[in-house]
Amino acid sequence: MIFDIDIIRKVYEQLPEKIKQVREALQRPLTLTEKVLLTHLSDGVPIKNYKRAGDYVNFAPDRVAMQDATAQMALLQLMNSGRTKVAVPSTVHCDHLIQAYKNAEADLETANITNREVYEFLRDVSNKYGIGFWKPGAGIIHQVVLENYAFPGGMMIGTDSHTPNAGGLGMIAIGVGGADAVDVMAGLPWELKMPKIIGVKLTGKLSGWSAPKDVILKVAGILTVKGGTNAVIEYFGEGAKTLSATGKGTICNMGAEVGATTSIFPFDDKSADYLEQTSRKEVADEARKIMEHLQPDQEVVDNPEMYYDQLIEINLSDLEPHINGPFTPDAAYTISEFGEAVRKNNWPRKMEVGLIGSCTNSSYEDLTRAVSIVKQAGEDHVPVKAQFLINPGSEQIRYTAERDGILQVFEDAGATIIANACGPCIGQWKREDANDRKNSIVTSFNRNFAKRNDGNPNTHAFVTSPELVAALTIAGDLCFNPLTDTLINEYGKEVKLKEPTGFEMPPNGYEVKDAGYIEPALNGSEVQISIDPNSNRLQKLEPFPAWDGEDLTNLPLLIKVKGKCTTDHISMAGPWLRFRGHLDNISDNMLIGAVNAFNDKTNAVLDPETNEYINVPALARKFKSRGVGSIVVAEENYGEGSSREHAAMEPRHLNVKVILVKSFARIHETNLKKQGMLALTFVNNDDYNKVQERDKISILGLKDFAPDRNLTVQLLHADGTIDTFEVSHTYNEQQVEWFKAGSALNAMK
Ligand code: F3S
Repeated sequence: MIFDIDIIRKVYEQLPEKIKQVREALQRPLTLTEKVLLTHLSDGVPIKNYKRAGDYVNFAPDRVAMQDATAQMALLQLMNSGRTKVAVPSTVHCDHLIQAYKNAEADLETANITNREVYEFLRDVSNKYGIGFWKPGAGIIHQVVLENYAFPGGMMIGTDSHTPNAGGLGMIAIGVGGADAVDVMAGLPWELKMPKIIGVKLTGKLSGWSAPKDVILKVAGILTVKGGTNAVIEYFGEGAKTLSATGKGTICNMGAEVGATTSIFPFDDKSADYLEQTSRKEVADEARKIMEHLQPDQEVVDNPEMYYDQLIEINLSDLEPHINGPFTPDAAYTISEFGEAVRKNNWPRKMEVGLIGSCTNSSYEDLTRAVSIVKQAGEDHVPVKAQFLINPGSEQIRYTAERDGILQVFEDAGATIIANACGPCIGQWKREDANDRKNSIVTSFNRNFAKRNDGNPNTHAFVTSPELVAALTIAGDLCFNPLTDTLINEYGKEVKLKEPTGFEMPPNGYEVKDAGYIEPALNGSEVQISIDPNSNRLQKLEPFPAWDGEDLTNLPLLIKVKGKCTTDHISMAGPWLRFRGHLDNISDNMLIGAVNAFNDKTNAVLDPETNEYINVPALARKFKSRGVGSIVVAEENYGEGSSREHAAMEPRHLNVKVILVKSFARIHETNLKKQGMLALTFVNNDDYNKVQERDKISILGLKDFAPDRNLTVQLLHADGTIDTFEVSHTYNEQQVEWFKAGSALNAMK
């Protein structure tokens, strides 16, 4: 058995009594988020009214999941932790390293050859430390977790920012960096800032072309990419009960796009049906017994404005299909506004590629609704104008969809079925005609940052529901609105596409021959792990040096970043994914996507010694070789996007000492702290403007570095003048210790 029913039973046996204790301690009704979080406090942590978005609290999650790109660094750190076996059930999923090029079979074969060393490392470390291993082709981490491990009322962390997908089944599931995963796998408490709670009340019922994806595309438009920071988004209301479990997963998945800590739905009949259909009837039965505890209290539902920090109301019956983009997932347009936006902004109108899949939208329901459109177009002799790529979310979905003839319909329409993996969602797409051409693509994915899909900064990527991707791919026209427009078929006749139809779950049940799971050895002590010292892909980690006890003085500026700086800008994916287990090699991509505020260029920063503009990593390496640290200055929501801790480890490795920004994205800020970096924020955002290209920058007050105590920054400008201002931080006592020890891992040891 893949999932552990005994652990779930234990959680459920204790849940009612624990919730009673929480209610007594807080003396008020509880949201679902509070029920799950406060029943997962670490041993000895008192139950009390923690300050939301203020207090750090220690938790004891039930599970850990890791994907192959982040697992390498997480497991390299686990090997340095002194533990012999993981303390909680954990899994590794090989999904990020498979490049989409020809088709599923050929691409998987290539991946197994090119990534052999990494896959063997992940498999062997999993085997040694008692971690379940999902081999390449088994599926995308979040779909596999939803199908096998997610359970209502549970708590998990995952080394991927879309871990919240499991919230679709009522789990608090949070994306973290590998160092956090190591804490939990090592049996240590896991620390999180107690989140605020944003309530989203859903009423009505979706119909026609509207899909669960449109709920989160609309929410993204309301909250923007920062609006969910340090908050859990809790959905509730009668409308929530009308959504399929996988549809709820889609909505929770994309909560990451507004920076939310996670998102969650209450347990309902649809969740129970999904659990039963995915071979977890025992979990469904146990959850049904405590159904009332897997909901927000009725008083909360009746008076949501009293218990949520922010309330959003969406009537599903009125919800229009949305398309968001380009370049940011919060640029939301309804389908009726979108055509006009395309024309007005001069976005390339020709729709070149439609992509359906990713962890966001690759469920059976997604595929059946999209295929209903494709089938209809075929029957009405409407040709498919754009290239079409489909990636099923898991081998179970792929096998079932093949059995049910769904994949054949896509293929008959000219679509290519690519591997059950991330592929183009993470830049693992060998798109032959990408170049730097301005062009448009439409995906059912979650992210659309520049270069994210094909490495081309001029690809305008838009995200929408799978059914709309299908319609736009058929039309080959970004301005096509299937609700109002018609297409011309091969005989010159006008055809109007009918509304999509689909199945939430396969009418004949899910089926799979080889799901791709490898159980670890019961006793892995004999398993040997070897890392070739000459490897390009893997490198043993050396501990980072401890703080020397002195203020940081006269640091040269490495780069002052202008505008958006996501983890993709800091540590690009795509071809760089192959170095995720080799810190020195991957550091050559550090900040190469960030825009230099002084020349508006990427990867061109001033070397103050030669007065030439050179690459960012090259300048950092030059400073490092001389024993000089440096500093990065940036704007809002720095580190938005993924959980990859490489974005924190690379600067640490290249001797960057400080990241000073207007604001941080949550996961990235924690990742910086865990790696022993100084993550500081401007008290007054205008001070950003004072930083000049040739400044020597000092951070003063470190001897008294303590929670809630600001530090001082001194800028020594090239003309000899000085600017001084205060900067703040969010380090708690434990995190200050991480800084002093050089990293959280050093402090653990
Ligand atoms: Fe993979 Fe893209 Fe999801 S990279 S885990 S499919 S966000």
